Amino acid sequence: MSEKTLNEFKGTAEQEAALKDVIAKHHDQPGGLMPVLQEAQGIYGYLPLEVQQMVADGLGISLSEVYGVATFYSQFSLTPKGKHQISVCLGTACYVKGSDKILEAVENQLGIKSGECTPDGLFSIDSCRCVGACGLAPVMTIGEEVYGKLVPDQVKKILDSYRNEGGAAE
Ligand code: FES
Repeated sequence: MSEKTLNEFKGTAEQEAALKDVIAKHHDQPGGLMPVLQEAQGIYGYLPLEVQQMVADGLGISLSEVYGVATFYSQFSLTPKGKHQISVCLGTACYVKGSDKILEAVENQLGIKSGECTPDGLFSIDSCRCVGACGLAPVMTIGEEVYGKLVPDQVKKILDSYRNEGGAAE
């Protein structure tokens, strides 16, 4: 069993007060759920169930309604994101060039799975479909930075450059 407790919700009183203000601002507004969720994500960085429940209670709607909207739109994330958001492309061109092995190498390096965030909040991993750089397959992005023609052995060095805060390793 792993010792680390991943992605436990830790909201502060300040965040909760900010969320309450947002809810109060949009409470009587038709279609207020979307802006509330957008602002809630801005406050917390993501939309954990606890936040969805506060939104549901505050707006007087069901949790399932909030959850339905939060999961329907890709702009919303139900899991926390790291300071450095890693996305490995699993689109066809990248996949046939072995991007699953790149993803595996990233997961092994960080000790987390795709969809998770490291306990220190530094990295999160996701996969994506075609980022439009198929000529560079297999491709991984970290924030705005694109890494192409990757082999699994390069992953550690790239991640180290972010661990050491420089980022954007060649
Ligand atoms: S399939 Fe990965 S960039 Fe197009």
